[in-house]
Parts: sequence; structure tokens; C-alpha cells
Amino acid sequence: MNALTFEVLAKDEGGFARRGRMHLAHGVVETPVFMPVGTQATVKSMTPADLTEDIRASIILGNTYHLMLRPSADLIERMGGLHRFMSWDRPILTDSGGFQVWSLGDLRKIEEHGVRFRSHIDGSAVFLGPKESMHIQRQLGSDIVMAFDECTPYPATISEAEASMLMSMRWAGECREHLPVNDTQALFGIVQGGMYPELRIQSLEMLSAIDFEGIAIGGLSVGEPKEEMMAMMDALAPHLPVDKPHYVMGVGTPDDLIEGIDRGIDMFDCVMPTRNARNGTLFTDDGKLNIKNLRYAEDPRPIMEDCSCYTCRNFSRSYLRHLYMAKEILSSRLNTLHNLHYYCDLMSRARNALEQGEWPEFRNRFLQRYRDHA
Ligand code: GUN
Ligand code: ZN
Repeated sequence: MNALTFEVLAKDEGGFARRGRMHLAHGVVETPVFMPVGTQATVKSMTPADLTEDIRASIILGNTYHLMLRPSADLIERMGGLHRFMSWDRPILTDSGGFQVWSLGDLRKIEEHGVRFRSHIDGSAVFLGPKESMHIQRQLGSDIVMAFDECTPYPATISEAEASMLMSMRWAGECREHLPVNDTQALFGIVQGGMYPELRIQSLEMLSAIDFEGIAIGGLSVGEPKEEMMAMMDALAPHLPVDKPHYVMGVGTPDDLIEGIDRGIDMFDCVMPTRNARNGTLFTDDGKLNIKNLRYAEDPRPIMEDCSCYTCRNFSRSYLRHLYMAKEILSSRLNTLHNLHYYCDLMSRARNALEQGEWPEFRNRFLQRYRDHA
């Protein structure tokens, strides 16, 4: 048995969108899929029961960088691995630390075999490279392991972006050597190349020469205009291997997800639904709603009329605004529940449209309504 098998069940005839299914060590993932972010071995304020029963999440994300520093990969391994540690028995994808180390800025120094940096928790010296990242992700026991890469900063000149991409490609090869094909953990390569389509395509070709179970697109949503992000996905779409899952990292808003699916993307993750929930920003088919707004003070309606989440089934905008204004911890929980339910349900609606052969109509209707009110 392979650590990952992927089947395409239906596709949009006129484009790149597809409906697929991934089989992983801890279960099946229907795609397109949104993966809630659980950086610190928790999706903030959600229990595994919330995530499975209400939100119906099938896979979540964890982070090498945060977990290696606290509580440490050795400790999680001794506690039986990340699944048992956090009591989540469905698939987990772990990011490699490349992106988090990149965001440390001046606290890091890039070397040929990885990055030397200081822990943001206690200032201690740490080294993380392809070899270390693969070892840690093996200790965590995730179903999908991400290659250790450098997220190219934005903006970058073509020669900076090329040097960064080539380093990530050397690291990608080292990752595969340290995590050979096996039957429990799949490894995804990450396309880099800044905002240069020719570098992106070269990166994808270099990854194709290595035997990865899936392909991710990194270095997006780093401050570039939305059109540039879409242009990178457009450039890559015709070249992505059709028999492997495609994952765009750290993206995005609900309309970005729909645009991504349209460009052949199967997997997404983003902190937006969880982080925004805690700031009182809620997602609906009519765009974002800010629960702080005075206009909701006596609004008896749920966040979104036809949402079936626990929050919308039970509480008014008026009550949710009150919880937010009073800084009650239930506010974070109820808002997060709705936003994650909204994101995961949007993916379920997209899968349905693809199965029914109605993708273009669904996409157009969704984008028009979402952006009309945004
Ligand atoms: N998350 C968002 N973007 C990236 C990226 O470029 N690399 C990695 N490893 N994780 C990411
Ligand atoms: Zn809801």
C-alpha cells in the first residue's frame, strides 16, 4: 500500500477543475478540500469533536516549527505521535518549517544545508534544514509531510528568485533522500520561483524529476496583488501532473479558493477563517460581515440564513455581537465554528457542482454574489 493514492472522480471539461479522492494512512479525503490550521497541535478554540461532527473537516494542518520548539518533537513522539497527542484520528498534514523560519526576518541565517535561527520562545539557537525537518515530521507522524523550502520574499528580482528557487529544489531532493517512499507518510514537493512564470515552470519540472506524492505551490499570498497570484496559478495549471494532488499553501479568501479550484487546485489551508473569527469577521456567501458593527446590535437573524452550523442554528447576530463586545471566550468559539464550517461546506458545494457537471455555473454564481457585496 502507498502512503497516498489519488483518484480523479470528475472534472470540468472546459477547464482544470476536478473532483478527487485521496487515501491516506488515517483515512480518506474528498477534494477539493480546505484544511483548518492547527499550528500548536490545536485548531484554536475547537475540539476534535467540533471539527469532525459540526465542521466535518477531513484533514488538518500542523507545524514543524512551532511544535519542535514547544513542546518538542521528541516529547510528542514519546506521547505516541501528533495524532494521539491531540486526539485527532483523521489525516494530518505538517508544514516543514520553511515558511515560519522565513517570517522570522533578521533572527535567521540561511546556510547551504538549512537555516540557523533563534527560537522566538526562549532565544535558544536552533538549526533546521531538509534533514532535520524530515526527522521531526517523521516523529510527529503526519500523513502528509511537506518538503523544507524557502518561501521567496516579495518583491524579489529575477536573480534573487532564481537563487532561492534553486536552493529549495536542492533541498527538495535532500528531503526525498531523508524520507524515502514508504507506506505511511507521503511527501509533497513545493514549487517556488517568486512572481516569474518561467522560474515557476522550471521549478515544477525539477520537482517532477523527484518522486513526490503531491505537488504544492508555495510563495503565494506574500503581499503580491491578487492578479499576480492568479497569474502564477494560470501559468502552472497546464503543467501540473494530473495524477497527483495539487496544494496551494496559505491561500486564501473564499473567492481565492473558488479561483484556485478553477486552476486545478485540490487542497487549501489558511489561517483566515480561524484568525478572522477571533477578530469578529465572519464569512458568508454575501462577503464578509463584521460582527462589531452597530447595525447588528438588534439583528435577530443568524450570521448566514442557510448555514447549518451550530452557531447559525442557535444564535442571532445580536447575541454574537454582544459576546464579542463583552470579550467573552464563547465569541471566539462560536465565530470559529461558523467560519470553518463555511469554508469546509464551500468545498463540499464545489465538489457537488463538479460531480453534477455544473462547475462553470456554480463558480460564476458564487463569485458574482460574493463580490457584489464584498
Ligand atoms: N505556507 C505558505 N506559503 C508557504 C511556502 O512557500 N512554503 C511553506 N513551506 N509553507 C508555506
Ligand atoms: Zn453558520
